[in-house]
Parts: sequence; structure tokens; C-alpha cells
Amino acid sequence: MWGRSRWAETRGSCCLCRVDQFLMLKHSRVGIGLLGASKMSVGKSHTDRQWWKEAVVYQIYPASFNDTNNDGRGDVNGVTEKLDYLKDLGVDVVWLSPIYDSPQVDNGYDIADYKKIYPPYGTLEDVDRLIQELGRRGMKLVMDLVVNHTSDQHPWFLESRSSKSNPKRDWYIWRKPKYDVEGKPRPPNNWNQILGEAHSAWIFDETTQEYYFAAFTPQQSDLNWENPDVRAAVYDILRFWLDRGVAGFRMDVINLISKDQSFPDAEVVIPGQPYQPATQHFANGPRLHEFLGEMRREVLDKYDQMTVGEMPFIYDDKEFLKIVHQKDGFLNMVFHFELVDIDSERGDVPGDARMSVGNWDVSDLRRIISRWQRIMIDGGGWNSLYCENHDQPRSVSHYCDDSDEYREYGSKLLAMMETTLSGTLFVYQGEELGMRNVPLAWGPEEYKDIEVNEMYPNDQEKLQKARRALRAKARDNGRTPMQWDSSPNGGFCPEEVTPWMRVNDDYPVVNAAAQTKPEATSSVYHFWQRLVTLRKENAGALVHGGFELIDETNPDVFSYVRVADSGEKWVVVLNFTGHSATWESPKWGLQWVAGNYADGLDKVQSGGTDLVHLRPWEGLIARQPCN
Ligand code: NOJ
Repeated sequence: MWGRSRWAETRGSCCLCRVDQFLMLKHSRVGIGLLGASKMSVGKSHTDRQWWKEAVVYQIYPASFNDTNNDGRGDVNGVTEKLDYLKDLGVDVVWLSPIYDSPQVDNGYDIADYKKIYPPYGTLEDVDRLIQELGRRGMKLVMDLVVNHTSDQHPWFLESRSSKSNPKRDWYIWRKPKYDVEGKPRPPNNWNQILGEAHSAWIFDETTQEYYFAAFTPQQSDLNWENPDVRAAVYDILRFWLDRGVAGFRMDVINLISKDQSFPDAEVVIPGQPYQPATQHFANGPRLHEFLGEMRREVLDKYDQMTVGEMPFIYDDKEFLKIVHQKDGFLNMVFHFELVDIDSERGDVPGDARMSVGNWDVSDLRRIISRWQRIMIDGGGWNSLYCENHDQPRSVSHYCDDSDEYREYGSKLLAMMETTLSGTLFVYQGEELGMRNVPLAWGPEEYKDIEVNEMYPNDQEKLQKARRALRAKARDNGRTPMQWDSSPNGGFCPEEVTPWMRVNDDYPVVNAAAQTKPEATSSVYHFWQRLVTLRKENAGALVHGGFELIDETNPDVFSYVRVADSGEKWVVVLNFTGHSATWESPKWGLQWVAGNYADGLDKVQSGGTDLVHLRPWEGLIARQPCN
């Protein structure tokens, strides 16, 4: 809860910090003595304050956002209809997951036409109107660019598979079979599929008696980026959308576009299984930089736009920095997976490592987050900040406690963390309401994702285990329809319409209408809204500033300080456990300005000692005004 009156007071008392932070650049080291100037690194020069750094990006999963044509799936006009809701939250940029024409095998990440909209979502004219309406509100649109692969229904692939001599044959990755002792065709190597670990990533084509490569599912055939015509066709798509007024791209698995062209067998790490994980061979290949550099030169540099590359299967900091280095990198930022994989370990559910649920604690969270803050701040790159997206469970269920007792506290705790770290902030639809994972009681039929459908076991014991894992990790958790109000189907679609995916049963309580009411001052939505404002008003520290851990060995509390070039400090204290914890405050004359418990600020202010007692999932934010 925010102490409303104190909030106003403290904002007033420090308005100079915000207004004058540019003027104070030349004194940038002033005020950092308390931490020890050698240890504290302040933020990089603020000369590089591009719009996308301070922007709040809101990701929309179109199928589940807002249905205005009553077919049980969201649509483009449904996004346009909700722009005032997003503007009020403080959103600057809308990122739309794919809306292009698609057979929807992987919910639009299998594109059949990059220049046409999937008819149930609307038309190009609807998108033009969306861009216009966003513009009227000072907002921008970012599209999802999925060009590692197309749908197997894309005309390019239909041509490619039609004959070995077709001019588009080489637009995809075709290889001759190996043959077993009986003379039957076998895949060219042992690589498995990402969304179906038990299957080969090579799909046999009867017509031409060769295999094509498909890293995700058989219906998502990988493009052959070695072919310059493919790259030219991709750049043409980029231009098509940029010329329409789009302000950038989230690039799907963009580090998979260059692959080891010798296609060697992968090391066997799942004994007894014919197909093995091989991402070390088909991610981050030898020509990745060359391809991204070309894309930048040919297209991106010619527009004022932003890029964020989704980059799984990469574990080398230096490699990340090369990609996003602000001077000579290729993309503005990347999505890494270290935080969302905090609890991933192999072997919980047969058939899929991604569904594992391992243990983690605050020291893991602290290690991962501070590592990434350091890599980018010290190395001249830029972070993306996200806890949720359409491939991840809901963050309050993942990192906190989504029980009725603690859901709101946990959601607000995460909001405090995300809005006070260095980087560009990405909020996923429903995160601002504290939406949670699907109920454990839901049966397998409620899960719609192809990944789950590939793996559901028949045997009862495995099924129970799988059910727990799915409830924790399945992508479906983040894909349930938005909960707009307490009417049937949560206001996502009319009562008489069956939504493409069941609405989470908690919609009568967890919904936007209840949380945006002016009197719902303590709702998760309003908390996010205030934090977003705080972040924007104090971007010098909270977006661009330095980052340093405090109390690095505390077993329960993740705490850190953000420092503006002006010397102004912001301290963030987050109890990432379901029990009480203590934290010793540095003697910095802190003014406490935000907390997720109604009486949190009063308690900490009247505590009279430097020892702060925190309740389960309690978080606090304080400021030390500049001297
Ligand atoms: C990453 C996307 O986020 C995911 O949803 C999709 O299944 C794969 N890439 C394949 O496009």
C-alpha cells in the first residue's frame, strides 16, 4: 500500500532531484561516498537516453486479450478498444505477439503470410487504425518478427517442398536421409525438437525423399539464412511494417538464424533416447553477427525504431554484450532466460526438461539479477526487464505465493522489483492485475498448447506428477484470457461465446474493473500505475542509474540501491520469502516512500532503529535525496 499523503509530501520535497538531474551531470560522483566511491558504479552517461530505454512496453497475446467480434478469440480491434486502459497504466509501447495469417499450430508463431493479418484477428486496415490511435495517445507499436522459421503452409515452403529443382528449394534446410540396415530413411543427425523432446528435428518429405529441418514443431520449417534471397525477403518484410508506422520488433529466437552448417550429431545427454538436445549446434552459429549486422545496415539503421531479440540457449556474457553493445552491437536489447529458468532442472516430467520444477531461494534471484545489471551497466549494453510473457507461468505463482492470502503482496513485490531495475521494462497482459496460474484441478483438456499436447503421459502416476509440473510451468498458464470484469468469461467475450481457452476461475475477484475503480486505491493495478509513474519521474536513478547490492548475504531479503548521476539514491528492500525477515538499514537518512503493506511505511518510519522487520513478501522503497 502507498502512504498517499506521505507519497505527496516526499515527491514534493525532492522535485529538484528530478528536474535538475541533467544540470548536475558534471557533479556525477557527488554523494556516492557513503557507499565507497570505488565500489559504487554510477550509471552510464545519460547522453544516450533513447526513447525506448525509458519506455514501458506492454506485451499483448492477441488470442487472449479482448474479443470484439464474438468468436472467442481476441482481435486487433480489441486492442484498440483498450488503449485508454493501457495509457492510464503508463504504457508507452504495445508489443503484439504475432497477428499475421497463420494455421495457428503454435498460436501464430507459425506464419503463412507476413503481410496479411489472420482473419479472425482483423485486417491491415485495423492495424493501421491501431497505429493511428496509439499515435494519438503518444504510444507506439512493436511487432513480433518470427523469421527463424515460417509455417509449413507458407507459399515459400510449399514451393520449396514441391521439387528438388524448385527455385525456392534452398530457402529451407534440406538434407538427404541416412539409411538404416533395412534401407529405411533415417534423419541426417540426432537433433531433437525444442517443443517435442522425443522427436527428431528432421521431418521426412515423401515427395522429394529428403528431410527438412524444423527446430520447434514439424509445422515450423526453418528458413535457410545462408541464402541471400531469404535474407532479402526478410528485410522486405521489415520495411513493409516499418513503412506502415511500426516502431520496432521483438525478434523471435533470433539467435537461431545461423546454424552450424556441418550439422554434426549432438552429444548424448538423454541416454536411451534416439534424439538429443542440440541447441549448441543450431543456436548462435558462426554467421549470426554477420546476418544481424546486415539487417541493421540494410534496414534498421534507416528508421527510428527499437529491437529486442529473444535469445535462448546462450550462456556467454561476452556474446550477449557483442549483440547489444550500444556502440557497435546489433540489437538494442535481448531477452535472456536465466531468471525465468531459475527453477529449471532436467527430469521432473518424462519427455520434457522444460517442465521441471527445482528449488531456488533469494540468493539465486540476487545472483542472477545483479549479474545482469552488472553485465549491461559495466559493459555498455542495455537490459530488458521481464518476469512474464506468453511462454512463462504467471510471475506471482512462479516467484512468490499466489494463495488468496499473499497473491496481492507477491504481485506488488514483483512490481517493486521490476520498476526499480536498470533496463527497458516489459509488462505482460494481466501481470498488472496479479493474474495467476490456472487452478491445479484443471484437467489436461484445458491446456491448449502444442507443447503440452506432445507430452501428456497416459499412466496415472506420471499424470499426477505431470499435472503438478504443468500447473507450475506450462505456457498455458500465461495464456488464459484477460480478466476485464466479473461477468461470465471475465468480460473477455460474451457469455454465450466459448472462449478459445478457459478463463481462470478467479475472474470474479481478480479483474480489471474491480482494480481500476478510483476507490480501489490499494489494488495491484493502482500499485503498478504508481510505480510506473515513480520510475518515469525518477528515470535518472531508476532507469539509467548505477546498481549495487546491499546486505549481500541476507538469507531472505533482496536489497539494492540505484544511484543517479546526481548522487540521489533509491533503496529497494524485498523480502522474497513467506516468513518474517529482518534487514539492517544503512544510515543514509532514508525517506521511505512505498511499500506493499498498508501500514508498511508507518511501521518502518516509527521503528526507531536501523533494523527493519519485514512481513512475508513485504517490500519497501526508500529514497535518499541528493545532498
Ligand atoms: C519463441 C516464442 O516465444 C514461442 O512462443 C514459440 O513457440 C517459439 N519461439 C517458436 O516460434
